[in-house]
Amino acid sequence: MKKRVGILISGRGSNMRALIEAAKEKDYPAEIVLVISNVADASGLEFARGNGIEAQVIEHKKFPSREIFDNAMDVALNAANVEIVALAGFMRLLSPRFVEKWHGRMINIHPSLLPAYKGLHTHKRAIEAGEKFAGCTVHFVTPELDDGPAILQAQVPVLPGDSEDTLAARVLEQEHRIYPQALRLVAEGKAKL
Ligand code: GRF
Repeated sequence: MKKRVGILISGRGSNMRALIEAAKEKDYPAEIVLVISNVADASGLEFARGNGIEAQVIEHKKFPSREIFDNAMDVALNAANVEIVALAGFMRLLSPRFVEKWHGRMINIHPSLLPAYKGLHTHKRAIEAGEKFAGCTVHFVTPELDDGPAILQAQVPVLPGDSEDTLAARVLEQEHRIYPQALRLVAEGKAKL
């Protein structure tokens, strides 16, 4: 049985797209059954719907607190019988209660070689620090931001003359490669928290 996966996005959704494409393969151990965006005009929504996947907008702005917003997402995920949650450019902090509910069943992709450069503007900070390497990490989500155990990482060089954009593009290519691989490991039970 394929594991049922829900993806949370806030924007472009290129990692979501990589997961949807990977899941089209017959022997892939997971299927994408639901996409949720907290931003109404996230461009990723169209791609999901175009691929026959239910895509819901749950706007955080419309809820009185983070906990109530998170609970609305939890209700939607459970209604779709989601078993694994994949965060893909989802730009909201999650409440401890939500993280606890999905303990060991929620993963994230972050554009740095964690534990280096948690948080935002990872590429800009890596260039400014004179790093020779950058990369991305898929990790289990724990209550601390960008802190859970890594499942897969990919490394790329920082090249002379790199801007934030050129480095981001080099890393993004690797994100699209390792996120489907990491989800496969989790869905197969080969990576566990
Ligand atoms: C990616 O760089 C991801 O690592 C980070 O946010 C970005 C989202 O891009 N968490 P996309 O929406 O998947 O295109």
